[in-house]
Amino acid sequence: MTNTTTREILVTSALPYANGSIHIGHMLEYIQTDIWVRFQRHIGNTCHYVCADDAHGTAIMLRAEQEGITPEQLIANVQAEHEQDFSNFNVSFDNFYSTHSPENREFSEYIYKACEAKGHIASRTITQAFDPEKQLFLADRFIKGTCPKCKTEDQYGDNCEACGATYSPADLIKPKSAISGAIPVQKDSTHLFFKLPDFEKLLKDWTRSGSLQSEIANKLAEWLDSGLQEWDISRDAPYFGFEIPGQENKFFYVWLDAPIGYMASFKNLCDRTAGLDFDYYWNKNSSTELYHFIGKDIINFHGLFWPAMLYAAEFRTPTAVYAHGFLTVNGQKMSKSRGTFIKAGTYLRHLHPEYLRYYFAAKLNNKVDDLDLNLEDFVQRVNSDLVGKVVNIASRSAGFISKKFNGKLSTAVSEPELLNAFASEQHTIAEHYENREFGKAIKAIMALADQANQYIADKEPWVLARQEGSEQQVQDICSTGLNMFRMLMIYLKPVLPMMTENAANFLNDDLSWSGLNTPLVSHGIEKFKPLMIRIEASQIEAMLEESKVEVAKELALKEKQG
Ligand code: MSP
Ligand code: ZN
Repeated sequence: MTNTTTREILVTSALPYANGSIHIGHMLEYIQTDIWVRFQRHIGNTCHYVCADDAHGTAIMLRAEQEGITPEQLIANVQAEHEQDFSNFNVSFDNFYSTHSPENREFSEYIYKACEAKGHIASRTITQAFDPEKQLFLADRFIKGTCPKCKTEDQYGDNCEACGATYSPADLIKPKSAISGAIPVQKDSTHLFFKLPDFEKLLKDWTRSGSLQSEIANKLAEWLDSGLQEWDISRDAPYFGFEIPGQENKFFYVWLDAPIGYMASFKNLCDRTAGLDFDYYWNKNSSTELYHFIGKDIINFHGLFWPAMLYAAEFRTPTAVYAHGFLTVNGQKMSKSRGTFIKAGTYLRHLHPEYLRYYFAAKLNNKVDDLDLNLEDFVQRVNSDLVGKVVNIASRSAGFISKKFNGKLSTAVSEPELLNAFASEQHTIAEHYENREFGKAIKAIMALADQANQYIADKEPWVLARQEGSEQQVQDICSTGLNMFRMLMIYLKPVLPMMTENAANFLNDDLSWSGLNTPLVSHGIEKFKPLMIRIEASQIEAMLEESKVEVAKELALKEKQG
């Protein structure tokens, strides 16, 4: 554990809400994180990757009620589905847990009590909209009414979709509860607040620590400059969550215990893993690294409240928070009517998971920009890069080796300079992966694939194979081809774990990073099987069609339930 040459890293992805399915927008985040985690392990670092379902809050409580099951049943069902999707996409979590867990309750209480003991919790009475029928306080998004400006009916409590006006729910004409339809009344309740302004200095220092993306640092600086507000961390019963110790019928707001779920998931992993020590990773002087991968919509929670809470309770703060942009499909927000609101499960019924892993990798950088899945480009890119370039190198070389040389590669490297050139790219490619510039890594790898194809095309082993006395040459060319293919697969291993595993079986080699420096000689390979097949446009059509049908089914179900 005190080894100084390998880094010790703990990585998280944001915890998906347990009230719905994983869609391909979510997958952008889990794939981005997984590639980074797999890269770290590939080069020999210790890297733990944990996640969990975010199981608390009003939305989950209401959804369970709608389905006629308990919240516990709902979150168990959803968790099973989420785990299946993640596993099918080969996301290599060391633990996928739940925020509705004993560990999370314990840490949430501990951190809250530490904040309270240090005077960082305030209490005061606020007035809120209340649904007298459901006996429930209503967040803005659960109130609907007529827009005060343009008079369009059935608009949400904070903004009008018709004219774009923003207002407070109190301004709505004829407001009603979106849950029961009852007219909301105003009601007082005492709430607890986390005194974020106490942490201004800490947050300013953390923001300037240099390891944050400039977009995030700027956003945080903006918030810090405009003055920090106290944060309401309590919710009244009924609420699905943890009761606040020392209070009656008050629950922690879901966003209080959600990030603590990162710790809880890791604690749960430590408790069943010999030699893995929770405190070693979370104590305030820890020499380990902690990274949170998140979407751009939740930067405030991870960049303000979370480091402040950790600091207050004397835990370490994150080394960095890495935010990505949102996924669009064909240039637009995912849309249920166009069929581009694609669930992970729907995608997987039609397409190989590694097509998407590859496409995302090819387009990802370390910025907070949105990323577009253009479906035509997707088909074209995957087919031409993976099938046309990478697999082609192996398929053009393997046949001769199997048929003519009994599956054996040449006894010596015939093109040391070429293989050295491939190996010497390892530093550049590693740096791109490390910096989350996956698109640049892929570009560098595909440039090598082009070189490899060019080499084989120039040497024309299929012509030599028909000439007598050229056996050695044919074996050498094809051995070089397979060595180049092997190096490409080593480079692509974090992105394409399944294809790499099949390639490893074919090459009888573990495809470890260090293998880049030792080409295979006098080495036996197995019979070649196609490692990736082309995407057909009809598969895309069928996936979009099924997505539309699913949306229609869901709507019908909702109408039936009322
Ligand atoms: N439960 C919170 C996170 C709590 S973390 C302590 C949440 N859940 S979520 O299910 O809405 O989103 C999970 C992650 O997926 C977030 O990082 C979010 O930004 C990301 N994405 C959700 N939709 C997305 C896209 N369309 N595109 C890219 N990322 C998306 O937020
Ligand atoms: Zn309006």
